[in-house]
Amino acid sequence: MKWCVIKNDDWEKIINKVLACDVLVIGSPTYYYDVCGQIKNFIDRTYSLYHDRKLAGRQGVTVAVQAQKGATRTIQTLEGILSTHEFSSLGSVKGNGYHAGDVLSDKEALEKAKKVGNKIGSLVKSCKV
Ligand SMILES: Cc1cc2nc3c(=O)[nH]c(=O)nc-3n(C[C@H](O)[C@H](O)[C@H](O)COP(=O)(O)O)c2cc1C
Repeated sequence: MKWCVIKNDDWEKIINKVLACDVLVIGSPTYYYDVCGQIKNFIDRTYSLYHDRKLAGRQGVTVAVQAQKGATRTIQTLEGILSTHEFSSLGSVKGNGYHAGDVLSDKEALEKAKKVGNKIGSLVKSCKV
């Protein structure tokens, strides 16, 4: 199967954006020490593109937020989709927060996000238009 057989939802719209990108930033909240169900469904459905390595050669960044613990595994799961699909990883960002906006107090995460953002910026600048 070379394209997800499930129709009439947003997957096609989203995967076409992924196919058009040079750098994919993929993130998830940590739910029970791993990615949330919606992201896991999205990841599983990309298997349809794996056989012809349709996503290979892109770059990726992984992002996870946690209230207290579990984001290390969330990042591992997200890095798993990147390595399976032969992306190269530009880095990962782990943030702490329970409510929306809490992560703004996580200085380490903001610093890392800035570094990774700068890497993406320099790649985009070096692209010929
Ligand atoms: C179903 C559920 C499971 C969660 N499991 C964890 C967990 O294992 N570890 C943790 O640190 N936080 C956990 N949290 C807290 C969330 O990771 C945290 O509140 C996050 O900021 C929520 O992001 P969201 O608002 O995008 O859902 C959980 C939250 C929910 C709703």
